Amino acid sequence: MKRKRRVLALGSIGAAALAVAAVVAGLPSIAQAASTLGAQAAVSGRYFGTAVAAGKLGNATYSSILDREFNMITAENEMKWDTVEPSRGNFNFGPGDQIVAHAQAHGQRMRGHTTVWHGQLPSWVSSITDANTLRSVMNNHITTEITHFKGKIYAWDVVNEAFADGSTQHRGSVFQNVLGNGFIEEAFRTARSADPAAKLCYNDYNIEDWNAAKTQGVYSMVRDFKARGVPIDCVGFQSHFGSGGQPGNFPTTLANFAALGVDVQLTELDIAQASATAYGNVVKTCMNVARCAGITVWGIRDSDSWRTGENPLLFDNNGNKKAAYNAVLTALGAAPSPGPSSTVSTGPSGGLRGVGSGRCLDVPSSSQTDGALLQIWDCNGAANQQWSLTASNQLVVYGNKCLDVPGRATTAGTRVEIWTCNGGTNQQWRVNADGTVVGVGSGLCLDVTGAGTGNGTAVEIWTCNGAANQKWSRT
Ligand code: XIL
Repeated sequence: MKRKRRVLALGSIGAAALAVAAVVAGLPSIAQAASTLGAQAAVSGRYFGTAVAAGKLGNATYSSILDREFNMITAENEMKWDTVEPSRGNFNFGPGDQIVAHAQAHGQRMRGHTTVWHGQLPSWVSSITDANTLRSVMNNHITTEITHFKGKIYAWDVVNEAFADGSTQHRGSVFQNVLGNGFIEEAFRTARSADPAAKLCYNDYNIEDWNAAKTQGVYSMVRDFKARGVPIDCVGFQSHFGSGGQPGNFPTTLANFAALGVDVQLTELDIAQASATAYGNVVKTCMNVARCAGITVWGIRDSDSWRTGENPLLFDNNGNKKAAYNAVLTALGAAPSPGPSSTVSTGPSGGLRGVGSGRCLDVPSSSQTDGALLQIWDCNGAANQQWSLTASNQLVVYGNKCLDVPGRATTAGTRVEIWTCNGGTNQQWRVNADGTVVGVGSGLCLDVTGAGTGNGTAVEIWTCNGAANQKWSRT
């Protein structure tokens, strides 16, 4: 679609109102040039936010920039556990309420940050060793806090930073160590009960690089939550970047998470030295993903940043706009480009049931390791049996692993594996109306070895012969 571009001399409120009206009326979106970050983001239905410290609201420079430019607020520290529940059962919502009151008075929405985090956690919590006690303390904290702010929060960071750096696994924390892996799921379920209308996010840093183990760990968790109906609506990418800005494959990461059926948000953006190019690129990354709901920078002026001396924000110490500000404003106004190539399928995903065996194509032990050899197993609907066919003829499992013939072999009897999708012809399959699945590179058919029917029987490629062990149906 070609977008019309008109420049209107509208104040920020006018442009925002116009954008809201257009959305409400369901009109096709027309890009307008707005003069503030929040208004410009609103033109595409997004928000532009910042972290706010309650103690700075009385500063005139600070609050005038806040109210002119931003339409979403995250409390920088005031909704964290050490402020909200400094001792068991004693809740202090004063500083958080102050920020919410400011937001409501100025038409800004709020992100809630954060209910369960190992950081800024009082020692009375981190010293709990009994699982029943900690479970009840965690759930009471979530329920009390989310209930207190009910109706006033757009999205909650229910769990913050639960994964370990350089790993696909959770980090050690009192919650992980005492409650085990299930604490994240429990936190989300508790949050949903407390405020069914708020979006519930998982938030973390260093999950922007698609190739990072931590990114893959969080992706697997979100995929699993969606598959099992655990309530999760969004993933927050903190986006604390070095001077080079985002990793080059951040667009792929955002697209792949969005394809799981969650909103994605950039929640704590700051970039060392605030290169205008780097800021512009990050904003474009969000603009190119339809489910990227908005961007929050982690502070207003450089002097407000937690990254002392790195000058990572959009306004200088005096509150003047920096070059990065203009790059962000421009990028927010640009029409989205066709968007990053998600490695995730466009087709429906489901099981592939062997007609002869009645069992499903399955990755043993839910392995996600390249080279894992495939088998048939009782169809159970689990993620290691969910295959989707992409427009480029890949059969994808887990969103990023492809059904693959090892070493581009063309020999009958070669067992098939999963491998990171790479577009090779040994990863392309023709799914035919007669139920056969033919390897594009090998010309051979996907085949259950020896026409076996038992759990664990290997799956290979074999000369097509029309037998039932070479026919597959969708579950
Ligand atoms: C930071 C605040 O900006 C500081 O004021 C505070 O001293 C420490 O926490 N990830 C998060 C944020 O999720 O809550 C952190 O905020 C920055 C890193």
